[in-house]
Amino acid sequence: MIVVSVLARKGGTGKSSAVRCLAVEALKAGRRVVIIDTDPQPTCYRWGQRRSAAGIPVPLVVVPAPGGLAAQIEGYRAQGVDLVLVDTPPTATPAVNAALDHSTGALVVTRPNPEDLESVQESLRVASAQKRRTGVILWQAPPDKRVKAVALAREALEAMGADVCPTAISASISYPYAYAEALTPQEREPEGRARAELADVWGWLQRSGIMATVPYDIKTAASLGPLTDAPVGTKGKRGRSKASSKAEVTA
Ligand SMILES: Nc1ncnc2c1ncn2[C@@H]1O[C@H](COP(=O)(O)OP(=O)(O)O)[C@@H](O)[C@H]1O
Ligand SMILES: [Mg+2]
Repeated sequence: MIVVSVLARKGGTGKSSAVRCLAVEALKAGRRVVIIDTDPQPTCYRWGQRRSAAGIPVPLVVVPAPGGLAAQIEGYRAQGVDLVLVDTPPTATPAVNAALDHSTGALVVTRPNPEDLESVQESLRVASAQKRRTGVILWQAPPDKRVKAVALAREALEAMGADVCPTAISASISYPYAYAEALTPQEREPEGRARAELADVWGWLQRSGIMATVPYDIKTAASLGPLTDAPVGTKGKRGRSKASSKAEVTA
């Protein structure tokens, strides 16, 4: 099972949007995916609740269980989950270190602005201190390819030794609109630019090994039950999460 923490020391860079969009890419690729939202401002969790209420039970989105992240992640491993995405707060809280402790890799999301780039170094340092495979995705980039900001940001990140995704995610109003509708841009506009960019990012994550998951075995999948947010062996004892226990994976 792959566990990836998504980090940024700046607020508003697009971390939570990246988590939701990549979870939906994983679903499209037939993976069983869970989001653990460790941010005290749980935007992913709220989005998941609105999706459940609207009858879209995937991905399963939960908050940290009282028994700790390790037990929670092990519970998902036992349920046959392929990928856990951990959304983190923008501050350097113990929650970020705990998330990295239990992750196989990390992703840093940054806008191509000097103010944001300055803080990437710190995220890279924290992730590399824990020897986690780490990638950087440029997010909310100017959509006009003639603008030099993305090339300059890429240069600055590469000078830090970062492994940068070749595709930058453009700024688009589709992201907040999709959040409001409990969707992702690729679900809302299946022919849109965001969809193409996110597919490129997903491809890079597979190639780079940061999110490479084993090929999906449909027979195993059929024998696995619906995902629940109750850690294994504690059926019925729920934490803060009220995520739907009806959750099941549909590609
Ligand atoms: N590519 C994008 N283009 C335009 N707006 C975006 C994009 N990605 C995210 N946003 C918007 O930016 C704001 C912050 O995004 P969010 O994912 O919540 O960031 P973070 O989790 O890093 O605080 C939200 O209003 C979100 O809808
Ligand atoms: Mg967030």
